[in-house]
Amino acid sequence: MPAMKDVFRHEPSTSGCDVPTCDIVSVYLIGAYEGLAVAAIPTSIIVIGIIYFRHDALLSQELAEYLNDQDKLKHLRNEFFYPKMATLPHVDKSLVNLEEDSVYLCGNSLGLLPKATTRIMDEQFKKWAEIGVFGHLDGEIPWAFCDECCLDGVAKLVGAHPSEIAVMNGLTVNVHVLFTAFYKPTPSRHKILIESKAFPSDHYAIESQIRLKGLKVEDSMICLEPRQGEDILRTEDILSYIEEHGDSISIIFFSGVQYYTGQLFEIEKITAAGHAKGCLVGWDLAHAYANVPLKLHEWDVDFACWCSYKYGCTGAGGLAGAFVNERFAEDKRDRMLGWWSHKYSTRFIMDNVLDLDTGAAGYRISNPPIMLAVAVLGFLEVMEKTNLEELREKSIHLTGYLEFLIDHYFGANSAKDRKVHCEIMTPRDSSQRGCQLSLKFNYDIASVYKELVKRGVAVDKRYPYVIRVAPVHLYNNFTDVWRFVQILVKCVDELEKELDKK
Ligand SMILES: *Cc1c(COP(=O)(O)O)cnc(C)c1O
Ligand SMILES: *[C@@H]1O[C@H](CO)[C@@H](O)[C@H](O)[C@H]1NC(C)=O
Repeated sequence: MPAMKDVFRHEPSTSGCDVPTCDIVSVYLIGAYEGLAVAAIPTSIIVIGIIYFRHDALLSQELAEYLNDQDKLKHLRNEFFYPKMATLPHVDKSLVNLEEDSVYLCGNSLGLLPKATTRIMDEQFKKWAEIGVFGHLDGEIPWAFCDECCLDGVAKLVGAHPSEIAVMNGLTVNVHVLFTAFYKPTPSRHKILIESKAFPSDHYAIESQIRLKGLKVEDSMICLEPRQGEDILRTEDILSYIEEHGDSISIIFFSGVQYYTGQLFEIEKITAAGHAKGCLVGWDLAHAYANVPLKLHEWDVDFACWCSYKYGCTGAGGLAGAFVNERFAEDKRDRMLGWWSHKYSTRFIMDNVLDLDTGAAGYRISNPPIMLAVAVLGFLEVMEKTNLEELREKSIHLTGYLEFLIDHYFGANSAKDRKVHCEIMTPRDSSQRGCQLSLKFNYDIASVYKELVKRGVAVDKRYPYVIRVAPVHLYNNFTDVWRFVQILVKCVDELEKELDKK
């Protein structure tokens, strides 16, 4: 955080609006001013916040625009195709300005298309048309190595050595590839610990892995539940469960960021606790990849996998990734094999004598799909202009701003006593979450969702209670967040009017 004196400089406004000049950090103070549980803010700062901020200024569009001006990363929005109101389906044209940008806060589900990707894709089509099969080994991106062209960039995003990374398959396929190699149950240690409400695909994958070993799901799968009445799994409870039952656990497999609650798990602590009890610890980083900085190597994670089409912006079904700790680089554990598991130097001798590649490369099965690798490369081109540390800094402000506005209009202290309301399910502590906030409604989310979509908002609904909202550091700005909350208020007003009529 910058020094206090830099945070508050009360200068006359040039735009004519009476918004005090402040650093983006003020978003924290806004939270504090509203009486939120914002950790680590000394009382003195809160007092200064109250002196300088007029309440209505905090809610103004001008503040959002001011915060955009201060944003060092604002140019990154231009690296993407950002959908317009006019092109989104299901928009009620009488309710929106068609020229405007839509309110796209769904990058946790499908990230936007980087402009670089279309250029690189066109280059591959041209190359295919012109040189055909020679494209495997010739050209700027030899197709036979197109996954390897992604390794440095992807390794940086997850904090790993490139040799610990493979860019391959889809996410759930990688869950199976990794579990086939790492799940070696014994009579005394056969359990897999996951979070309750794990993503369905992970849940089914683990169930099937247990059954494939001839074991019973009831005996071998443990789904750790939050405390009664709570949505979030407390780290202390996870750690004490591992401490107590770790001896019978083969693998602990959690998501990095929980897709439903938005909770960012404490990967390093949970991994260490698992290791202390002799468990392997793997992570599904679907919602963490390119969202928050990761240090898989330093945290000593055993294995991990992720998809790349969420924050990683590679398009639906994009190429997934896998991490296998260096510790396992030379072990030749049984796994699913294919010709791409074989070392390149001898692969094409094709004598059917496997010369297993080392590291994560030895977990590859098929030759890599160039069209999918292109999308990874396009995204990495954007990432060359920034890094996850500075994106994270922005993200904390952007999501904090969303939190402030939601609390203001819907929280316990909001001016209006609402029949339809929502509360934030995601942890309040920014170190325990990524971009996403999960809004838990007391009302049918399908109706809320329908009203939002009509007004050009892209978010998603997850039954039973939640609408997920993800301002993404890469391309969203404070105005998107501001507009979202204005629209949400309007939708809820409409729904309440309907209720009154009934
Ligand atoms: C998005 C997501 C998936 C999707 O799996 P695919 O194999 O890419 O279809 C799986 N698990 C989690 C935790 C996810 O968030
Ligand atoms: C911020 O987003 C709004 C749409 O919500 C857009 O009109 C505006 O151009 C964006 N500002 C910047 C600086 O990108």
